[in-house]
Amino acid sequence: MATSSALIQSEFSNPNLEVLISEADIQNRIKDLGSQIAREYAGRNPLLIGVLKGACFFLSDLLRAIDIPLGIEFMAISSYGSSTRTSGEVRILKDLDVPVENRHIIVVEDIVDTGLTLSYLLANLKSRGAASVKLVALLDKFERRERAVEIDYLGFQIPDHFVVGYGLDFAERYRNLPFIAVLKNPEAAQLGLPISTPST
Ligand code: IMP
Ligand code: MG
Repeated sequence: MATSSALIQSEFSNPNLEVLISEADIQNRIKDLGSQIAREYAGRNPLLIGVLKGACFFLSDLLRAIDIPLGIEFMAISSYGSSTRTSGEVRILKDLDVPVENRHIIVVEDIVDTGLTLSYLLANLKSRGAASVKLVALLDKFERRERAVEIDYLGFQIPDHFVVGYGLDFAERYRNLPFIAVLKNPEAAQLGLPISTPST
């Protein structure tokens, strides 16, 4: 019988991944973004709105780098299925629990790709009477833009590769990576490689 350690496959050193942005680089950039946001929003009690699920990881680190009073909320939007191509369809799956009238909103997103999701969401929030609406995004895949989206605070621009990790998934996998990686072979990720499950 195999020992339990023989069944453990490391996800973080999965050979199908090539590190694009290291954990240290992500965390250093977040510290800078947090200080900048704290300076610019002092006295305004901003409401940070995280877009589920991908932005949760970025939001939770970013919040702890913004040393002023603030609130958080979550929304869920669909624009992608379980594939690497956008459907172009945008739906609100989970809405805010509070009104945003007269609040200073900062939308927190993991990645801006075509811009379809964000251009819809930002316009939607502005129409609800927020005092201001700005966007912070960890990643900008600028070469793929179809709709103009102004990113007020940006972590990193990246080339046109499908990336995973630090909240970003491929078919719900890889969100737990502490770094951003390029998925070398998406088909292998879906079909070829076994996905480890807890054995107890
Ligand atoms: P957009 O509407 O095309 O800008 O897509 C935004 C959403 O698509 C993001 O919030 C992600 O969920 C997803 N997405 C776009 N590019 C990638 C990627 O490279 N890896 C994982 N998810 C992505
Ligand atoms: Mg997403």
